[in-house]
Amino acid sequence: MSILIKNARVITASDDYQADIFIKGERIEAIGNNLDVQAGQTIDAADKVVFPGGIDPHVHLDMPFMGTYSSDSYETGTRAALHGGTTMVIDFILQTQGKSLHHALEAWRGRSDGNCYGDYSFHMAVTDFNEDTRKEVGQLVEKEGITSFKTFMAYKGALMIDDGQMVGLMQEVKERGGMVTVHATNGDMIDSLIAQHRAAGKLSPLYHWLSQPEVTESEASGRFVDMAHYTGVPAYIVHLTCEGALNQVREATSRNQKVFVETCIQYLLLDASLYEKDPEGAKWVMSPPLRQKKDQEALWAGLNQGLVQIVATDHCPFKWEQKLMGKDDFSKIPNGHPAIEHRMELLWSEGVEKGRISANKYVEVTSTNPAKIFGMYPRKGCIAVGSDADLVIFDPYHQHKLSASSHHMNVDYSAYEGWEVQGKCETVILRGKVAIDKGEVKIEKGYGQFVRRGKASKVV
Ligand code: URP
Ligand code: ZN
Ligand code: ZN
Repeated sequence: MSILIKNARVITASDDYQADIFIKGERIEAIGNNLDVQAGQTIDAADKVVFPGGIDPHVHLDMPFMGTYSSDSYETGTRAALHGGTTMVIDFILQTQGKSLHHALEAWRGRSDGNCYGDYSFHMAVTDFNEDTRKEVGQLVEKEGITSFKTFMAYKGALMIDDGQMVGLMQEVKERGGMVTVHATNGDMIDSLIAQHRAAGKLSPLYHWLSQPEVTESEASGRFVDMAHYTGVPAYIVHLTCEGALNQVREATSRNQKVFVETCIQYLLLDASLYEKDPEGAKWVMSPPLRQKKDQEALWAGLNQGLVQIVATDHCPFKWEQKLMGKDDFSKIPNGHPAIEHRMELLWSEGVEKGRISANKYVEVTSTNPAKIFGMYPRKGCIAVGSDADLVIFDPYHQHKLSASSHHMNVDYSAYEGWEVQGKCETVILRGKVAIDKGEVKIEKGYGQFVRRGKASKVV
């Protein structure tokens, strides 16, 4: 099995050049001008750009949460991801408090193994750190290739750990060569604001936002960063949304601390005015909530300053019927929104086309940095001889509109209905196989493989 991509404008995190790419089996075999090779299939990429397949390190597929399950399965979610140029996702396993990490791993494997179209891996969310859990951390790193450990500073009673558990986990993870990631918001303060709003009969989606003001995120981010500094563990903040939290990270750099930061496409593009719609605002109820225009500006700047290394999605879709669980009380709306299919096209259109980021930065934050930070580089995240042939052939001239009537995610509305997008993922190649061609799926369920990860590379 071999593919020759001819006349490509190849864009990586560092380069932008014209070349042919020869793929043999699952890997890139050669890159050069006018390659003289025999290939099973030739694709002419003149007038197209070719970049590495997207890696979305923050998705929740088929996840039990807030009394229901996120509506995309591993099958529908990874397939939709491929349509949008994302060839690999990292999903979250949630430990059940009182049970082991391996118990949760088995449950997540039961839902994912054999069901994925695209490649996938897991972060392990530690929701109950104790002496038994401590022993499992090293096993996950060494035996399972799961090297990142997620923590929640909110969602008390289900997912949140306290600061003592956080420090204990950080010490263990550092020892084992892993990374601690965090949902950094002050859970106690949020719960108290939710209770105040409910007691006052303030129950519409707007109060979801007003229960999680910026200070809840900046305070928790600063606390997390301080604990990471004390323990020396590699640290990563997921879905950072606002200027205040980013300033905590900026501050940490002045003592030469390195903290990795992920934001998500929605925090760059959408703002909290959407919560004024009732009940429709429920579509954007997620945690942390959408913020303000000044936060969007801080995040775009943060990307260019190198303070924000990754743009993910936190894809956690719920159908409208599920969102209606909270029609009379915002605190019962399942948190999360659908985006797995749109991240790559939206970021190109709103970022590269509008001159907010360069094409190299685009590749860096959608693919190369996720691969480096989460221990998969250079197998993933680059276009290089020997790397997995995960490639997007992208038509930058193709304009289209996003809509629930045409997307592939298993959700009956779009959070971006009617958005005009410049550029389309035309052909998507995963480990040497054409997976998507002009909207058609060319691979079978089960082609997606679990990717064992190593330790974070030091080069970001
Ligand atoms: O609203 C969100 N973000 N839902 C998914 C769970 C999480 O906090 O990431
Ligand atoms: Zn979260
Ligand atoms: Zn999440």
